[in-house]
Amino acid sequence: MKVLLGVTGGIAAYRACELVSLAVKSGHSVRVVMTANATRFVGPLSFEAMSGHPVLSDTFADALAHIEWAKWAEVAVVAPCSANVLAKLACGLADDALTTTLMALPRGRRVVVAPAMNTEMWLNPVTQRNLRWLDELGRYTIVAPTEKRLACGDVGPGGLAEPSDILAVVATAT
Ligand SMILES: Cc1cc2nc3c(=O)[nH]c(=O)nc-3n(C[C@H](O)[C@H](O)[C@H](O)COP(=O)(O)O)c2cc1C
Repeated sequence: MKVLLGVTGGIAAYRACELVSLAVKSGHSVRVVMTANATRFVGPLSFEAMSGHPVLSDTFADALAHIEWAKWAEVAVVAPCSANVLAKLACGLADDALTTTLMALPRGRRVVVAPAMNTEMWLNPVTQRNLRWLDELGRYTIVAPTEKRLACGDVGPGGLAEPSDILAVVATAT
């Protein structure tokens, strides 16, 4: 399957490397789109080496890449998905390479979203409302975060789901 992976700026960004590795080993073809903030957590080079494709992170570096990549994808997954990108998806914002590519995704293509964030960000009513909005659209599948001791020290929901569990959802999401 052709999988478009969106990586956002969160502490769990490094776990997206594991997801690419698992997906490629399972026979999927993966292209990675990173937000600018994601590149502050993990270098694009890791994803380029593992996916065998250049990483897209600047909408304006290549005029039509966001449209071509959206057409190429059979399924999209955002892992980890920040509170910020979750909100952008719920509102239809397209102000970076990731959200622009996802907005251009052909009708009928599904988007798997694996949020990861601090517990208060996750439980924030606006995040919960954004999740409901995405759910109502019928195109998004949310892979709920796990409850654990998070990097910030809080204990509660907000940890990225296991990459193998995310991949299992992606594989059945078309
Ligand atoms: C060390 C650090 C860790 C962060 N971890 C997360 C996180 O796990 N989830 C999240 O939603 N935001 C997290 N943030 C905040 C985001 O990086 C910030 O909201 C940023 O604007 C997200 O950008 P993006 O959504 O364009 O990638 C973190 C910030 C810092 C400095």
